Amino acid sequence: MDKNNLITFKVQRYDPEHDRIPHFQEFMVPSGKCLTVLEGLLYIKENLDSSLAFRASCRMAICGSCGILINNYPNLACHTQIEEFHSDTLTVKPLPNLPIIKDLVVDLIPFFNTHKSIKPYILRQDAEEMEKPTAEYAQPPRALETLLQFTHCIKCGICISACPTSASDRLFLGPQALSQCYRYCTDNRDEGEKERFPMVDTDHGVWHCHLAGACSEACPKGVDPALAIQLLKRRLVSRAVALGKKQQPSSTVPSPAETKPKLPFPGFTVK
Ligand code: SF4
Ligand code: FES
Repeated sequence: MDKNNLITFKVQRYDPEHDRIPHFQEFMVPSGKCLTVLEGLLYIKENLDSSLAFRASCRMAICGSCGILINNYPNLACHTQIEEFHSDTLTVKPLPNLPIIKDLVVDLIPFFNTHKSIKPYILRQDAEEMEKPTAEYAQPPRALETLLQFTHCIKCGICISACPTSASDRLFLGPQALSQCYRYCTDNRDEGEKERFPMVDTDHGVWHCHLAGACSEACPKGVDPALAIQLLKRRLVSRAVALGKKQQPSSTVPSPAETKPKLPFPGFTVK
């Protein structure tokens, strides 16, 4: 094997059952065979050390499970080309600000619990309609545009690992949960502000965000959580001084399938 085609992967290892502190182990990975950092890790696992622990699933930047720190920058391993670094050494570590389970695997349960705590779903008063829907809730394209980018969040935890406030305040709700709070509160079908606002209007909520912007810079899906947090602050202030427009949740509309004229199924053209 040509030595020039080898990349050194310096991988942080830590097994809580055997190690007192994390340490680094080096692996030589053929760059020609591995285009992405995830492929490099899979090569190590399959050919050099099967005990290496990391998480991955979709390999296409959708499941959000392969977030790691690559050369001290948080990113998705499946979404990062080895070539991008123009270097023959890559340092790979687990995402910061999250407890390490083993090697590159971090515990995402506290992160998911925080996400769940802000009730990331449509909340409405018409419980009966929610329980047994008779039609769809109307959402004009303009209303969707105001929140569309925030729906692209894949819950990878990368924004949390980049956030300096999350690093210093373990109780901080973090950019992911706060941006999702904004995403649902601003949804024209939602009526959940009253339930969600007390959770985010706290010292460990929106008001602890110092607008470093690291979350938006790092997000691999182009979500701008820092913007969402500022817009959420504005909503809270408007509500407090009674400036906010009273938003009526959208009413139901018949589904397009019910209103469209039924076209006859085209006949076969070849006999
Ligand atoms: S906002 Fe971006 S970085 Fe944060 S969890 Fe969602 S996709 Fe990941
Ligand atoms: S493996 Fe799914 S996002 Fe990377």
